[in-house]
Amino acid sequence: MPRQPILSVLGHVDSGKTTLLDNIRESKIVQGESGGITQMIGATEVPITTCRDVCGPLLDQLDTDLEIPGLLFIDTPGHAAFSSLRKRGGSISDIAILVVDIEEGVQPQTEEAIKILKESGTPFVIALNKVDKLSGWKQAGNMFTKAIQEQPERVQKKIDEEIYELMGELNEYDIMTDRFDRVDDFQKKAALIPISAMTGVGIPELLMVVTGLSQNYLADELEIQQGTGKGTVLEVSQEKGLGTTIDVIHYDGIMKKTDKLVYGTADGAKVTDIRALLEPKPLQEIRVDKQYEEVEEVHPASGVKISGKDLEGVISGAPIRTTSEENLKEAKKEVEEELELGRFETQNQGIVVKADSLGSLEAVMREIEDLEINVQKAEVGPIKKSNVAEVQNEIPEERAIIAFNTGTTEQGQRAVQDRDIQVFQSEVVYEIIEDYREWKEDLKRKKRQKALTAVSRPAKIEVLHEHVFRSSNPAVVGVKILDGVLNGGSVMQEDGTLVGNVKSIQEQNEKVEKAEKGSQVAVSISNATVGRDFEEGDVLYVNITGKEYKQLKELKDLLTAGEKDVLDEIVDIKDSKDPHWKL
Ligand code: GTP
Ligand code: MG
Repeated sequence: MPRQPILSVLGHVDSGKTTLLDNIRESKIVQGESGGITQMIGATEVPITTCRDVCGPLLDQLDTDLEIPGLLFIDTPGHAAFSSLRKRGGSISDIAILVVDIEEGVQPQTEEAIKILKESGTPFVIALNKVDKLSGWKQAGNMFTKAIQEQPERVQKKIDEEIYELMGELNEYDIMTDRFDRVDDFQKKAALIPISAMTGVGIPELLMVVTGLSQNYLADELEIQQGTGKGTVLEVSQEKGLGTTIDVIHYDGIMKKTDKLVYGTADGAKVTDIRALLEPKPLQEIRVDKQYEEVEEVHPASGVKISGKDLEGVISGAPIRTTSEENLKEAKKEVEEELELGRFETQNQGIVVKADSLGSLEAVMREIEDLEINVQKAEVGPIKKSNVAEVQNEIPEERAIIAFNTGTTEQGQRAVQDRDIQVFQSEVVYEIIEDYREWKEDLKRKKRQKALTAVSRPAKIEVLHEHVFRSSNPAVVGVKILDGVLNGGSVMQEDGTLVGNVKSIQEQNEKVEKAEKGSQVAVSISNATVGRDFEEGDVLYVNITGKEYKQLKELKDLLTAGEKDVLDEIVDIKDSKDPHWKL
């Protein structure tokens, strides 16, 4: 008999993932059959009998014998925890529901989810949620197919429009979709199911489609292998009286309390004894003292909490194995190999990247890959003091830490405050990366702007008549900036003869760093005498050196149009004097 498929619910924050699960749970409770649905660690088991109850006669339409015992729902929180649910060669999710808010369409995390689903090759359906919010919507039972016929025409039209729009948007990701009742080949097209997680409309159809897909296309892969238990760490948590425990999604093999536990850490695979395999007690049995029940054996698929000695270094998203002594070597090898796949190529220099799990680390690193960002370290965990030390001596734009969905230790916090380093922290991958890029661009812009103040900028000036304040040592004269920007440097005649060096610029008796086109300023020119090196009425140019010319070319986008024109004139003058001046 196959196991239940692991079904992840993904979607943008507030799209209604949890409400959807609550609704499925609720319907069971409402029907007074509290026993059916089992709450597990990080997962909820919905037995096939519940699917039957919810779907009613719909399931008969599937025209197939249902062998799967149910569905194991995993509600991934707003961030990309889904990517933590991985195993070698893909995701441990057998199938997924992508929840999209009908009023919002594709949102940033929807996009992230699509990318992850595509990359892991996980089949999925799309729940177009919150149809009840459409203006004019009338509640008319839970079957969408019936309810839609009861809607006013404009609501029907609106839903179709939204479906078409979403189909178009998803098409841009090369995902072919259609309304579920128009899909002829579920292996080619992803089904779109309009639902309301709040009122329950469409949920029967949604359950029918995922149940049918699982039975028809996945059942073969759901056969359980005996022996070594296989799982992925969803979360590491501290439990009173138990110390460090791991919440595991168990997807294959049998886990026994007497087994050895092989788990992944930053330093490779480690082995420990299992202290307890724990499952949450049914809701009505939870007493103040004990929330969990110890079990001897766990069968997949399930969510289980494992307590063991020395689990401190365990990484979220890392694989685990539970095994007998004789298969220990093989199990360790498997864990090592999977960990190896999770390591990233890093450089000797660059930023530090942190994330809350291997999967989310992978998600950030995937985004970073194409962006020419140097990374010296990528690891799971909060920002530590040592991470600050690692980046503090890097070049300014790499004096940064990117932290996806993870916090900072107390010592780390202090170190960040003490040092001039930048921290980018968010629960949304693209947001952190965008923030980092913007900051880097800004630094670059400032750096270039500063570079521009350090070179002589191209300017063409006219010495004004009757504005000689001093004729030499230094000469001080009034000039008009005909074009370009004057910020100092040596000046020359129109034929290239050197005049002297502009030492300072004054505008209305105030010293200024630069003067722009049209302004009249007083300049002091050293090593020049009025009447010998230049005259009143002369037009002078800034004498750009070969080295400065190269720098100006690199900063060209920061120059004014006038400066560029003047620079061309200067180049002509210099060329006529010395064709090799640029070298
Ligand atoms: P995160 O876990 O934070 O990512 O959010 P989520 O996707 O689990 O969303 P959640 O189920 O918490 O719903 C977010 C809000 O939307 C809540 O206020 C829900 O009551 C509301 N909501 C969810 N589904 C529906 C729906 O079908 N109709 C209406 N009207 N509101 C809904
Ligand atoms: Mg939620």
